[in-house]
Amino acid sequence: MVYVKFCIRNSSSGSLRQFRWISEGKKIGDYSNQVGMADNWQTLLSGLLWRGKIIMDDVFVWLTHYGREALSDALPGFLGGVCESDARLDDKVAVITGCSAGIGKITALEFCKRGARVIMACRDLEKAQKAADIIIKKAAQFGNPGQVIVRKLDLASFKSVRECANQILATEEKVHILVNNAGVYCPWKLTEDGQDILYQTNFLAHFLFTMLLLPRIISAAPARIINVSSLLYTWGDKETNTDMAPRKKSYSTFYAYARSKLAVILFTKKLSEKLRGLDVTTYAVHPGFVQTGIFREIDTTIHPIVQRILESSMSRLLFLKSPWQGAQTTLHCALAERAGKESGLYYSDCRPRKPVRKARDKQNAESLWNFSWNVVGLPEDYDPIHRSRSSD
Ligand SMILES: NC(=O)c1ccc[n+]([C@@H]2O[C@H](COP(=O)([O-])OP(=O)(O)OC[C@H]3O[C@@H](n4cnc5c(N)ncnc54)[C@H](OP(=O)(O)O)[C@@H]3O)[C@@H](O)[C@H]2O)c1
Repeated sequence: MVYVKFCIRNSSSGSLRQFRWISEGKKIGDYSNQVGMADNWQTLLSGLLWRGKIIMDDVFVWLTHYGREALSDALPGFLGGVCESDARLDDKVAVITGCSAGIGKITALEFCKRGARVIMACRDLEKAQKAADIIIKKAAQFGNPGQVIVRKLDLASFKSVRECANQILATEEKVHILVNNAGVYCPWKLTEDGQDILYQTNFLAHFLFTMLLLPRIISAAPARIINVSSLLYTWGDKETNTDMAPRKKSYSTFYAYARSKLAVILFTKKLSEKLRGLDVTTYAVHPGFVQTGIFREIDTTIHPIVQRILESSMSRLLFLKSPWQGAQTTLHCALAERAGKESGLYYSDCRPRKPVRKARDKQNAESLWNFSWNVVGLPEDYDPIHRSRSSD
């Protein structure tokens, strides 16, 4: 077996920088020292090149011999991971946000195939209904499909989030699976609530939606909450608990996106702590880099590394997953027996991974929780967890 493992911390987070080259189980090089002073990818690369031809030859041999599977091991989140669970979801209710396209649509299809009552919470009802019709038709081919219901949810409006949650509270006694999947990558804009549209859609609105649905989720226990994050969280500014709205001048879509996805991981961990003992488990998921419409509004502020990955057709071929592949980690967290015994973790390629330190910062998670509670307008005395406990 041959594999390369590397972890790099960017200069602001201060996480571990190391590069290891392991061949046939034997470590033949450890470049921690050489790249220990590296502050960026360019320095790291020149460090590697400095080691010369041996590395480049070995990388070439390794790539050609071991192909995509090995690449996926070395670069977690890019290609691998398949949900192996064949669990059915008969009589279970699954709510998915933003599932009229991409990863969410595949997730809805897989749940429906397994017999779930799937609630597609989407902003464009016409597009969502078309997707629902396709899902129902496809799922029927597998026998014993579930149901699909479309509900209006615009995450860029807290009012819409409340209306959608109220509809679900009125019609569903239990919610067994919640997938906070919807996401945007778009230029700066303020929502009607005065928030940065990206931060609100990707994180704040999902925070509110989860809090409002929590009584139904707790009463469905064992239940699972899956929050779709992204590996790009590593670039997230660790001050997740500040208002982005006034920052137009210095705004970068890339960093705002990264920050929203870091907030998702911190929220997932904090939520798991709050729900301890209630048999409701939480998961933050990196789906991989997937060929979907998420980056359609890409602008010049995108990080050069990501821009290169997206623009090159070779990179697309090598690095990008299909939407089906992209949905696998979400499905693993929602369905796998093993995942049901874990909570609050960050997953990529159907496996828990240790996120960088800033995504494990308890103090940051606590202040993010309090900040979000105020911003989304939840009353101080609203206590979905205690309320559910006492109504048992
Ligand atoms: N694709 C990737 O490489 C990648 C990598 C890491 C993480 N992710 C994450 O994976 C998740 C799914 O994204 P995707 O790749 O499947 O992209 P996608 O195809 O663009 O799907 C995003 C979904 O979110 C919905 N949405 C956007 N704004 C909304 C709003 N205000 N209210 C309600 N729904 C809204 C979209 O609805 P419309 O159809 O109406 O636009 C769409 O259904 C996102 O959270 C994304 O950040 C994706």
